Amino acid sequence: MSKRRMIVGGNWKMFKTPSEAISTAKALKVKVINVQDVEIVICPPFPDLVPVHEMIKGSNIKLGGQNLYWEDQGAFTGEVSARMLKDAGCDYVIVGHSERRHVFGEQNHEINKKVRKALAEGLTPIFCVGEKIDERKSGLTEKIVEEQMRTGLAEVSLSAAEDLVVAYEPVWAIGTGENATPDQAAEVHAFVRRILGELFGEELSITIRIQYGGSVKPANADQLMSQNNIDGALVGGASLDAESFAAIIKSAENVAR
Ligand code: PGA
Repeated sequence: MSKRRMIVGGNWKMFKTPSEAISTAKALKVKVINVQDVEIVICPPFPDLVPVHEMIKGSNIKLGGQNLYWEDQGAFTGEVSARMLKDAGCDYVIVGHSERRHVFGEQNHEINKKVRKALAEGLTPIFCVGEKIDERKSGLTEKIVEEQMRTGLAEVSLSAAEDLVVAYEPVWAIGTGENATPDQAAEVHAFVRRILGELFGEELSITIRIQYGGSVKPANADQLMSQNNIDGALVGGASLDAESFAAIIKSAENVAR
């Protein structure tokens, strides 16, 4: 059994106004109050961060942003810096989510700047990788994931890598209701672990958490998270509801024990 601490993240994407986010966070706080063995992170939209932080302060729920820009400040309309996220109460930030890559055109080298900036400012990046369906069908899954990792994690120092979280999210499984089978997920997670070993050495690579993401629900969470090398989940749709997200967190707790 894995000695890595499980980590479950909720990516709220562009859902929930500040007041809606506060009430979901409040409901979640009550439901997971006794959970100790799982790191719990919620990533609401930017305007929700400060009020949600107020709501979860002192609880076992941590806060994350969904994106950042790599500059400290300046004329970058629409962007948000790592320092702003930190000051708003974030400890984490999702970087390179597939929607950022494929809807907004983010490239591996840009994602690398974001990963390095997050780490430099003391934010834990939840660094996302994953192949599209045509890439999987053409047998390119490993090639794509390796490229995303080698470029996205270039020049990340060994000491910084200790704080990294990787999320494997096959694009075809995100928001589609079609999750990877536990075997399919475990196969890519083992590959991700191997590349982490090549980048940062085996000893460090086994401590880095690798989340699975893509249509994780209470009904499939146990099976997915009990696989080798799956150290938690990054959850979209099912994290919007406090009850279903709490059920996934409790699955992670069962697997961790
Ligand atoms: P989903 O999203 O759980 O709705 O598939 C996962 C994600 O985008 O992180």
